[in-house]
This record gives sequence, C-alpha cells and structure tokens, in this order.
Amino acid sequence: MNEDVYVLGIETSCDETAAAVVKNGREILSNVVASQMESHRRFGGVVPEIASRHHVEQITLVIEEAMQQAGVSFAGLDAVAVTAGPGLVGALLVGVNAAKALAFAHGLPFIGVHHIAGHIYANQLVAEMKFPLLALVVSGGHTELVYMKEHGKFAVIGETRDDAAGEAYDKVARALGLPYPGGPHIDRLAHEGEPVIDLPRAWLEEGSYDFSFSGLKSAVLNALHNAKQRGEEIDPRQMAASFQASVVDVLVTKTVQAAKEYRVRQVLLAGGVAANRGLRAALQDKMKELPDVELVIPPLSLCTDNAAMIAAAGTVLYQQGKWADLALNANPSLPLV
Ligand code: KG4
Ligand code: ZN
Repeated sequence: MNEDVYVLGIETSCDETAAAVVKNGREILSNVVASQMESHRRFGGVVPEIASRHHVEQITLVIEEAMQQAGVSFAGLDAVAVTAGPGLVGALLVGVNAAKALAFAHGLPFIGVHHIAGHIYANQLVAEMKFPLLALVVSGGHTELVYMKEHGKFAVIGETRDDAAGEAYDKVARALGLPYPGGPHIDRLAHEGEPVIDLPRAWLEEGSYDFSFSGLKSAVLNALHNAKQRGEEIDPRQMAASFQASVVDVLVTKTVQAAKEYRVRQVLLAGGVAANRGLRAALQDKMKELPDVELVIPPLSLCTDNAAMIAAAGTVLYQQGKWADLALNANPSLPLV
C-alpha cells in the first residue's frame, strides 16, 4: 500500500499566483510562483481588481506547471488544498474556484487553508515541528505571535493593534521614495546606514505581546516632513537603519520573552517580513539566551507567499480529516482559530 500523501496547494490571496505539490507535508516536489508585482508597482500597492485579473490569466498555467514539474498526475494526488482566507476576496475566489473545480473533476478531497497557518507551516518544509512552539508571523497584512500546542491548534497570544510590520515597512519605504514593495529596499539600505536617529519603540503594557507600528511610522513621516520644511535632507540609509532597528528590537524582544514564558521547544519565523536580514540576524542572536529552544527560519522563497506552504498546512488538515465541502467560500477575514 502506498502511504505517501501528495497534496496540490494553491495560493491566490494577494499578488502571487502560486501552485505547488508537496509530498507528506514535508517534501517540495514543485513550487511555482507567478508574481504580479510589476503590474502593481506603479500604483504603489496591490490593486485588487488588477490582482484578480492576473490570477484568472495565470492560474491554469501555474497549476499545470506545478503538476508537470512534480511529475505527478491528478490521479496520483490525495487532496487539493487552497488558501480560503484571509486576503483580497476577488483574488481568493480565483484560487478557491480553481481548487474546487479540480477536486470535483478528479474526485479529490478539498481542503481550505488559512493563509497564516500556511506561513507557519512553511517551517515544516524545513524542519519537523516540535510542540509546544511559538511562531512569529510577520507579513504585509499580519503581525502575530502564535502559540501552538499541537498540529492545527493556534492561539494568538499577541497581534498588532494597528499596522502590520510589512505594512509599516511599505509605508516608510514609500515616504523614502522607494518602489513597492518597500521591505526589501529598506532592508538593503538599513545595512548601508547606522541607526543614529532616535525613533520610538511601542512596548505597550507590561506583559503584553501585542504590537503597534503606527506611532513609529508617524515618527518617521514627521521627521522626513520636518527636515524637508527646514530644507535639510535626512540620509535615507540612516532612516532605514533606525526604522529597522526599532521594528526588529520590538519583534525580537517580545518573541523571546514569550518563548521563555510559554516554555516552548521551538520558535518559528514566518511571513514575508521574515525575509528581513536584520530580523533574522537579531532573532538568531537573541535566541542564544534560550540554548535549548530550536529556532527555525525558512529560506527566503518560503517566507514570501507561495503554495508549498499551503500544501504543507493542507496535508495536516487532510490527515486530520478536516476536509471542506464544495460549498466552502473565500473569506477575506477568516479567523485563524
Ligand atoms: O507574506 P507576504 O509575502 O504577503 C502577505 O501575506 O502580506 O509579505 C509581504 C510583505 C511586504 O510588506 C514586504 O514589504 C515585506 O513582506 N517584505 C520585507 C522583506 N521582504 C518582504 N520586509 C522587510 N524586509 C524584507 N527583506
Ligand atoms: Zn502572506
């Protein structure tokens, strides 16, 4: 009997059309991502209507390519998993309907995956998850500390009260005249400058694992504005380095604090901002305080949106019998728990 599990994952929640085939929730057989970033760049952000149209154009090609690269036929699949939310509703719908059509046509189980669960399970493609664990999820739409006691059980112990970390990166980048998405540009500039500008860090109440980045964002915008009015210029490298130092300091300090309090065995980094070199280095460094806790950081290609992470999370749901029916709808504000 063949006990291997092959899952096709599909992700269209934002501006990447992605499909991937993953074996046993751990082994990537293919991971195809068609980015639309170029089409959105001139608008300085993702335009939902344009995103949906691109997904419609790309989805069939991307799925075909993922199947071909994996060398798996539809009959050889065990399930089709798709991001059901959160995200842009028109974008999500393209993936959800493509997945439904495939599941129906080939008589396969159909699995709806939460996008953030996907980001967390990207780590399962790198190392086996060890519970209890703590995941720092930092993306364009989310900043969350998620505690997991076992597979499929998520407890959000802290989250942003305003902007997501990636959102703050993108807004500050825009103010510095950098192209969208700004995160990688700030990251690059930050390494060329020094954090000499004094910027706030929102620690919030004692013991809180929540985050807040809007005050920091406003402080950067004000500093840039004031300098401009005085006819002075702020070195964008110094500003990028100072901004990044503030974001990374709060993220890393709270994560390690929570890891200690919750006595976890593993800390996982997830989401697009996990690609940040400053964050990766600082977290690695601070985790030395917890030598018995394993830190897992996925490679850059698994940090930003992809479908292998959806297939990985979908495999767990498949194995737990948590299958969706074909009435499943895209839910732009799907809760994690
Ligand atoms: O997870 P993701 O690909 O999409 C969402 O689900 O939101 O995250 C995209 C976000 C963007 O805000 C982007 O600027 C940010 O991740 N990002 C970075 C870096 N690479 C991507 N932020 C900081 N440093 C980076 N190197
Ligand atoms: Zn994402």
